Amino acid sequence: MTPRPLRFVRRGEIVSLDSVAPDRTLLQVLREDLQSTDTKEGCNEGDCGACTVVLGEAVDGHLHTRAVNSCIKLAHSVNGLALWTAGDLSARDGTLHPAQEALVQCHGSQCGFCTPGFVMSLFALYQNQVCKGEPVSRAQAQTALSGNLCRCTGYRPILEAATQMAELPAQPVNDAEVLQLLEQIKPSHQGPEGDFTYLSPQNLASLLQARAAWPDAQLVAGCTDVGLWINKAHRQFARVLDLSRVAELRQIRQDAQVLHIGASVTLEDAFAALVAERSQLATFASRFAGLPVRNAGTLGGNVANGSPIGDSMPLLIALGARVVLASLRGEREMPLEALYTGYRQTVLAPDEVLAWIRVPAPMPDEFMRVYKVSKRFDDDISAVCLALRLRLEEGIVTGFSIGVGGLAATPVRARQTEDSLIGQAWNQSTVQAGAAVLSQEFSPISDMRASAGYRTRLLGNLLQRFWLESQGSRSINLETGFTEEVLA
Ligand code: FAD
Ligand code: FES
Ligand code: FES
Repeated sequence: MTPRPLRFVRRGEIVSLDSVAPDRTLLQVLREDLQSTDTKEGCNEGDCGACTVVLGEAVDGHLHTRAVNSCIKLAHSVNGLALWTAGDLSARDGTLHPAQEALVQCHGSQCGFCTPGFVMSLFALYQNQVCKGEPVSRAQAQTALSGNLCRCTGYRPILEAATQMAELPAQPVNDAEVLQLLEQIKPSHQGPEGDFTYLSPQNLASLLQARAAWPDAQLVAGCTDVGLWINKAHRQFARVLDLSRVAELRQIRQDAQVLHIGASVTLEDAFAALVAERSQLATFASRFAGLPVRNAGTLGGNVANGSPIGDSMPLLIALGARVVLASLRGEREMPLEALYTGYRQTVLAPDEVLAWIRVPAPMPDEFMRVYKVSKRFDDDISAVCLALRLRLEEGIVTGFSIGVGGLAATPVRARQTEDSLIGQAWNQSTVQAGAAVLSQEFSPISDMRASAGYRTRLLGNLLQRFWLESQGSRSINLETGFTEEVLA
């Protein structure tokens, strides 16, 4: 049993490494094996951004670049991709890249740990916007830098650097050259996997065969949860089965009734598709981790991991999403909330994977909100997450689905509260009664994020907020009583 050779493109060359263990992280390979110490280790858990690198992938003949955290990325997951670190950006004559030069000119450099990470996030922004002729707004810069946490020496100069990169002499990546090299190292194994320790099937049939053959292999998608088990819990995996390259599971498909999201679609792309249908979810989506985590982590990983404080599940439960589990035996579909049987326990069989998440299209008369309450606005885990979707007919509640996170051992649906509200007139006294039921429906625990009492109190208050927002609409729909446009 051997690892497959690991090959990626860097500095215009193909890097080829043998004998990289399946659970070795990209940061370990960079710093320890390649002595590439320009990439820094800070938290080693995806939080600080010091280890940020940029990956390039050939997608439909174009070079697609994204910033990710190398500390929680498995090294083999970059097989067949291009990689840039902070030391790769300056030109051969030493001229700094605009992402670096702008930081210098705006006095935006931080300490020696944080600066390389900021530079890499700016480089990805440069590639994805400046090189396409699009100016960078302050809000876009903030999003791009949302995974670079430390701002000890001030954040304003960094944002200014982000917006000023475009004014410096251009230094674009030679996409054609990189794509040509990527073509040379394109993973060719389309059929069933051989007996390797890192399995990275390219299609669903190969994935399901590998899953059945090696049910003990650690399933990994974006590795933003699993990476922490390796770095912080020191877990070791003799064999890894990587879902992130399975073509079918990377697709998003929309029909009249349903949005079909493949389990390996990144959080960033999955939320973009959800926000395209329901624009009121934009703020919530931007508060899920920081951009490098959303660029690597997948919607399927969030759902399958089943954390009681996972953010997408309350939302998906409220939206009435269903999940499809697949194995060589066939497929089965169920409501998302039926996936969970206990704390981080699911009904997934050892030979099964989560394949698709199916989200019903918005109803014309639905009113939907999702509230995430955490100690910090950016890049923080929820103390409570509450998602609510209401439908009214002539002022009477005809449909109400409520997804809750942070209140029980699994993400849950507040069925008692839903039942108490359906059939009632949508008014303040109904909401007060519903808030009382909601506050009693769960027995939360106290932990470092919030006390049990605070969590319980929040639920009632958030339902009250939902009611108020439903009343603040600019234009009243005579049938439903409101629209989604809420007054500030
Ligand atoms: P992985 O780590 O690859 O896998 C997680 C688990 O799911 C593993 O057990 C794996 O075997 C299993 N799995 C993955 N895909 C499948 C599949 N298709 N079928 C069956 N099993 C599968 N989460 C939040 O909810 N909200 C946040 O705000 C948030 N912030 C974060 C911030 C940081 C800094 C970090 C490091 C993480 C954060 N997370 C957050 C957690 C994490 O990013 C998400 O849970 C993410 O969606 C996990 O997806 P992944 O692809 O990385 O999963
Ligand atoms: Fe902090 Fe990787 S070292 S995000
Ligand atoms: Fe690096 Fe704050 S720790 S700038």
